[in-house]
Amino acid sequence: MDGNLAALSSEEKVGLQLFMDVGCTNCHNGNLLGGRNFGKVDSIYSYNPNDLGRFEFTGNESDKYFFKIPSLRNVVLTQPYFHDGSVQTIQEAVNRMNAYNLNRQLDRSEINTIISFLNALSDKAKVTR
Ligand code: HEC
Repeated sequence: MDGNLAALSSEEKVGLQLFMDVGCTNCHNGNLLGGRNFGKVDSIYSYNPNDLGRFEFTGNESDKYFFKIPSLRNVVLTQPYFHDGSVQTIQEAVNRMNAYNLNRQLDRSEINTIISFLNALSDKAKVTR
């Protein structure tokens, strides 16, 4: 994030390019690639309809079903995913982003390329289980 491209392998760079091209950065942005805003979860996937998200804190109608856009720092080390922990794998988590207003849909091989970039966001020394 400091602009040192030598920190990434060539595959990770291709993943970063895809990450930017398809619009992941419309939501996951800033130094931590997320954690700054809220986004509406898409209703095509089932989750607990009684969990109203940010509305439960603010009481504003317009906050219904809005959840924090998570930071992607260390994301491959921090499964399960989403606010309800309903998704076990990083592959499925990225696949579900196909429903979140991307510029275009990602196929499986592109999802894997993005995941190689996400792997580069891991700070294994600092994450303990
Ligand atoms: C329109 C906004 C938006 C876009 C675009 C978007 N995301 Fe997300 N992303 C979210 C929101 C909101 C969540 C949290 C959903 C929840 O908790 O149910 C999320 C969750 C995730 C998660 C799970 C993280 C965790 O810790 O649970 C990953 C991984 C992820 N996004 C990766 C991506 C990638 C890669 C792209 C581009 C292919 C992308 N996102 C595009 C809004 C977006």
